[in-house]
Amino acid sequence: MVKLRLVHRCTECGAGHPKWAGRCPACGAWNSLVEEVDGPDEFATLAAGMALVPAGVAKPIGEIDANSATPCPTGIGELDRVLGGGFVPGSVTLLGGEPGIGKSTLLLQLLAGWAGRTLYVSAEESAQQVRLRAERLDAVRPDLWLLPETSLPNILAAIDELKPQLVVVDSIQTVADPDLSSAPGSVVQVRGCAHRLVQEAKRRTVSMVLVGHVTKDGGLAGPRVLEHLVDTVLSFEGERHHALRLLRASKHRFGPTNELGLFEMADAGLLPVPDPSQLFLADRRTGVPGSAVVPTIEGQRPLLVEVQALTNTSTSGVPPRRSAQGVDPGRLAMLLAVLERRARILVATHEVYASVVGGVKLTEPGVDLALCLAVVSAMTNRPLAADLVVCGEVGLAGELRQVAQTQRRLSEAARLGFGRAIVPASSPDSGAGIRVTRVSTLAEALSAAGLIGEAPTGPMP
Ligand code: TYD
Ligand code: MG
Repeated sequence: MVKLRLVHRCTECGAGHPKWAGRCPACGAWNSLVEEVDGPDEFATLAAGMALVPAGVAKPIGEIDANSATPCPTGIGELDRVLGGGFVPGSVTLLGGEPGIGKSTLLLQLLAGWAGRTLYVSAEESAQQVRLRAERLDAVRPDLWLLPETSLPNILAAIDELKPQLVVVDSIQTVADPDLSSAPGSVVQVRGCAHRLVQEAKRRTVSMVLVGHVTKDGGLAGPRVLEHLVDTVLSFEGERHHALRLLRASKHRFGPTNELGLFEMADAGLLPVPDPSQLFLADRRTGVPGSAVVPTIEGQRPLLVEVQALTNTSTSGVPPRRSAQGVDPGRLAMLLAVLERRARILVATHEVYASVVGGVKLTEPGVDLALCLAVVSAMTNRPLAADLVVCGEVGLAGELRQVAQTQRRLSEAARLGFGRAIVPASSPDSGAGIRVTRVSTLAEALSAAGLIGEAPTGPMP
């Protein structure tokens, strides 16, 4: 008789522990342990796959054929931008995102546009459901094959028979190997199946995309346990109630990871967003206090984004509330401290709410100055000029530091009709058709923007 043993497995790192704990002892993640039956055979699937892989042969590096790693364009420009050209044959990509964000839609569009034979393994939805969606997306093509299947051996058999160039498995969390005793969706199953699919993709030089749902409650093994197995990790983000979707690579073995792909969810599927700045500024109201426009850079692409702030005098005795959406709350706290100490703006008694319009997350320091100006504009109830953009990093001493690619940022602002910019004094010459004011401190920037009178000198008493 097989003796079953319970383990508590971490959905973040995959480590198994005999006892439950609030925090995984291996990786330190909180609330990530789930109860699982520990099978004796987690590696049986891997061993079966290993037996098929030919032994590696060492060669001088000059004799290695680099051309086999040339990406094939996908036909979806925004996806190619993020992938650095397309899919490399034999590579495995993990596409993560919350349920309902549009992963299946994007992949069906991808397969429909691919020049060779493709296979869509639907492990979640019935063939009818996928067919209906394909009709809506105009993706009913003779070269697109559909397999509603959750069993790993059957999926591999279908790949053997059809010999597709590109395979999508939607989703990896619902695929299971009957040889493993753990339940479908468990860490052991997800990791075992993904490992086996990666081996098969390499062996046959088939490109593969695995879909992984990101769930916050840890009920399903998250894509995190798969990240080191695959070549590329893409995440599809956005707010479900907004049409905008952002595609980013957090790991990419064949190119850079800083490019951003932008899509809009429409009735006929995902459409590329060729002019994102226009989209982000579409609903902007000028002449309102608490709003600043910043030209940021995402990868190679300049983006104009509106940053907003709202402040309220706090009457309760407790520390006033601070809330940040789309920017790091720690960064906001630091900027408020710099405003107080270096520019003598008394924010300590104010509640501060800051947000980036359009559901984007801004992580680059170039947004610092815009955040500070938006906060002070809200506090003083003075709007910034409608045609003004600002960018720059704010240091702890209240000094402004230049950020990369000022010229491209300012040309994008000029293209969209902005006529004035406030930038750090050390920024290189812009040459763009925009009037540039150079300032060296945060206080000078506040003064140049007309929010305060003369910039105060010296530190606070
Ligand atoms: P879906 O691709 O099923 O998401 P995921 O695979 O990430 O779970 O997309 C689901 C949402 O997208 C659903 O709420 C309906 C919407 N949608 C459109 O708005 N337009 C479309 O053409 C399609 C196919 C879906
Ligand atoms: Mg789906």
